[in-house]
Amino acid sequence: MPATILDGTKIASDIRAELAAEVKSMTAAGARPGLAVILVGENPASEIYVRGKVKSCEELGIYSEKITPPTTITTLELCQMVEGLNRRDEIDGILVQLPLPDQVDAKKVLMTVHPTKDVDGFHPMNVGYLSTQRPGLVPCTPAGAMEVLRRSGIAVAGKESVVVGRSDIVGKPAAMLLLNANATVTVCHSKTHDLAAVCRRADILVAAIGRAGMITRDFVKPGATVLDVGINKVTERAEFEKFFAGNKKREEKFAAKGSTLVGDVHPEVAEIAGAITPVPGGLGPLTIAMLMSNTVKAARMRRGSPVTV
Ligand code: GUN
Repeated sequence: MPATILDGTKIASDIRAELAAEVKSMTAAGARPGLAVILVGENPASEIYVRGKVKSCEELGIYSEKITPPTTITTLELCQMVEGLNRRDEIDGILVQLPLPDQVDAKKVLMTVHPTKDVDGFHPMNVGYLSTQRPGLVPCTPAGAMEVLRRSGIAVAGKESVVVGRSDIVGKPAAMLLLNANATVTVCHSKTHDLAAVCRRADILVAAIGRAGMITRDFVKPGATVLDVGINKVTERAEFEKFFAGNKKREEKFAAKGSTLVGDVHPEVAEIAGAITPVPGGLGPLTIAMLMSNTVKAARMRRGSPVTV
């Protein structure tokens, strides 16, 4: 039986509707949430992401500000810019879009974002809160993955879960969230021996590697839930054929656009998984929805309103 497709677009839209109502009541009470996004230089992919973030703020009634310093900015100048935003009361969330230019010390800049305004959840203080199960701001993509599980009624407690990828942005926080939800967690990476065998143990498999279609059928236990974090652009015809040969809809799109998006999970996995997030339309839409959620959460926390973990 083919996998249940976990519809991230629908889940993200439900979250946005809930947030819009919350933003409306906060705004009526004189506490409109505000997000500042810093986009350094001219990275086309980052520009697209940031446009999506600003547009989502507009749709929800969140105040937003886009700041676009030149690519020559220094670490000190960027830190001063962040400090200015830390001091402004109408700004609840600060997001510094990554990657930053080579001359900038990204870790230093991310440390400068005040932990209460750190809507990316990258500050070591928030990382510590997450690992000790205290309320804080959680990185958006893994938080979105957990929302998909929760809203799809997929139980986590006691389940074998395997996270492939150990990045600070996705893999590590995903592992921590699953652990906090009482899963048994294994984290795999490029040095893991017999990756396929380890992945086959998973009831819940999280793929966050950044390599198109790497997780093939032989990595997946039949019936497992597969969460695909990867967003990889495929432009070569031969590579396209490896994933979508015979898929008419994709063929048409690829012919028209000259590219298509593939996750870290090979599409053939949908034939044996129990449930799977598609690419596109899976975890991608959740990331922005969770950024909006974090902005509202940051606004509430800073004003002393209670929030749950
Ligand atoms: N670049 C790619 N993903 C992210 C993210 O989640 N946050 C930030 N700030 N930059 C990114």
